[in-house]
Amino acid sequence: MCGIVGYIGHREAYPIIIEGLKRLEYRGYDSAGIALFDGNDLKISKTKGKVSDLEQRSEQEITKNGSLGIGHTRWATHGVPNDVNSHPHASNSGDLAIIHNGIIENYDALKKELISRGYTFQSDTDTEVLINLIEDVKKKENVKLGKAIQIALNQVIGAYAIAVFDKTKPGEVVIARLGSPLAVGIGKDEFFIASDASPFIEYTKNAIYLEDEEMAIIRLGKDIKIRKIKDDSLVDPYVQELQMNLEQIEKGGYDHFMLKEIHEQPRAIRDTYRGRLLRDKAIIKMAGVEDNMKKFLNADRIIIVACGTSWHAGLVAEYIFEEFSRIPVEVEYASEFRYRNPVITEKDVVIAISQSGETADTLAAIKLAKSKGAFVFGVCNVVGSSIARETDAGAYTHAGPEIGVASTKAFTTQITVLTLMALRLARAKGTMSSSDFRLHIQELELIPQKVEQLLKVDEHVKDIAKQYLLSTNCLYLGRGYNFPVALEGALKLKEISYIHAEGYPAAEMKHGPIALIDDRMPVIVIATSKGHYEKVVSNIQEIKSRKGKIIAIVTKGDTAVKEIADHVIEIPESEEAFSPLLTTIPLQLLSYHIAVMRNCNVDQPRNLAKSVTVE
Ligand code: AGP
Ligand code: GLU
Repeated sequence: MCGIVGYIGHREAYPIIIEGLKRLEYRGYDSAGIALFDGNDLKISKTKGKVSDLEQRSEQEITKNGSLGIGHTRWATHGVPNDVNSHPHASNSGDLAIIHNGIIENYDALKKELISRGYTFQSDTDTEVLINLIEDVKKKENVKLGKAIQIALNQVIGAYAIAVFDKTKPGEVVIARLGSPLAVGIGKDEFFIASDASPFIEYTKNAIYLEDEEMAIIRLGKDIKIRKIKDDSLVDPYVQELQMNLEQIEKGGYDHFMLKEIHEQPRAIRDTYRGRLLRDKAIIKMAGVEDNMKKFLNADRIIIVACGTSWHAGLVAEYIFEEFSRIPVEVEYASEFRYRNPVITEKDVVIAISQSGETADTLAAIKLAKSKGAFVFGVCNVVGSSIARETDAGAYTHAGPEIGVASTKAFTTQITVLTLMALRLARAKGTMSSSDFRLHIQELELIPQKVEQLLKVDEHVKDIAKQYLLSTNCLYLGRGYNFPVALEGALKLKEISYIHAEGYPAAEMKHGPIALIDDRMPVIVIATSKGHYEKVVSNIQEIKSRKGKIIAIVTKGDTAVKEIADHVIEIPESEEAFSPLLTTIPLQLLSYHIAVMRNCNVDQPRNLAKSVTVE
């Protein structure tokens, strides 16, 4: 995720690009940069920090005239957020400049090849590799920029939305997309380029949205030419007239960032295993794990430290790690772990999970573990965050910025990273056969499309939400892998609708909580077909006999639970270990709709903060 803005036309490009970047900062805010062409030269100004920092810096660094420019707000995936890794990136010759949203998976191999041809690199980014690949093709094949980009992108594996400019051909900008959004605003003798329409909505409502595997050559005074990247064939442009307002566009047309992020999960999960899960080769490759394999294989145990939703992801990981790789796992609240003088040795591996990478309690737990000699591995969503820097190694979730305070795509991408790790260690330890391993990675690769399919239950969930929005208490029950999902579902409801909710292992009901059941108590039960199903059905019967209202999450085609539950939400069938990636989706939607119907501030719930940096 990041923000891309470009302009080519008759106005001063600088103010359009800077204001446009501010509107896209919700997409990424590690660093910002701008490249302007003033008719003679290409000038680049870029800095770590926010767009306001770029404004200050560019005041000193560049003259702001020129009616062609590209700008970028970064959400780092390769290379910590600093000035050098900021976009735009120039090619070795200095003629070409690029801004990029996405991930070039095979950047390492491409970089090695380019270095062997004499190219040098200033940054650690995958993007700088791409611009030099384009330059290399342009020189070798002696072709124009558009053709060079088309050839180069056919050598690239990954996701991208790019805008490229050649200072030797100043009347043109070339853009291309695969997996990351790119819109073109069509004005009178001017074109706007952006990740979404918010930067140009007040200038024009006529927009073209590039489709995946399409590129466009934008020349002043000419029509835009859209081509297929694969074979360079021409595509008829489809210009649509935008009806959305600015705020709606920033939220991708959704009413809240939380809902947008719930719907981003198929992309986020796919981006998280992209380049790590190589189905054709039947391997999982994660640098942070490969480089420290001995530590994992020789570990006496894995201790997981986290808070809140990340702690719930850790609980799911406990079941998965122990099931797949037979390594003992303990899951600790970081806030408790750090104060109770735990027994930690050099034979322990600690995994710290944190979306923000700034949670004070988790950071403190990491420092305590390191002080006692443990190896600490981080699972973060923010590149270069404090926890990412403090841990000995790690793996990023590629969820993109999570703006809603209630964590959704971070949870599912954390589970994705931890599942990849557990499968990789299972192979390394020989606790999973190669055929089972192959089946699991094939199943994992199907999860994004199952989530996509599952998101269609939204209207059905909304109908159920209407019937329970006045509840004062709620119970969530699950067994096995879905016990942590019950906890997570309860947290979601609590934190955005302010209804008291508790998650419990379903079998625990009879040890006390069942006393709470009456006809005013909604009970959400996760009853997937492979998750101790018969036992859960008995639990549902127990609740039913006490007039509890039952909302059951079942596997598609279920009949037994349908007979007794008040409401049923079906999820696609899946490997039980991966079912949390599915069962959590209707619970996210349920809490979202109840909170909206209760007029709560969904994206910024009362008393909460996105990152708890206090102790
Ligand atoms: C989850 O919806 C909450 N926002 C909160 O529990 C959060 O998960 C917790 O504060 C941990 O944050 P972190 O993942 O950034 O460390
Ligand atoms: N992968 C590129 C980088 O890390 C682009 C990230 C983004 O989408 O902002 O710089």
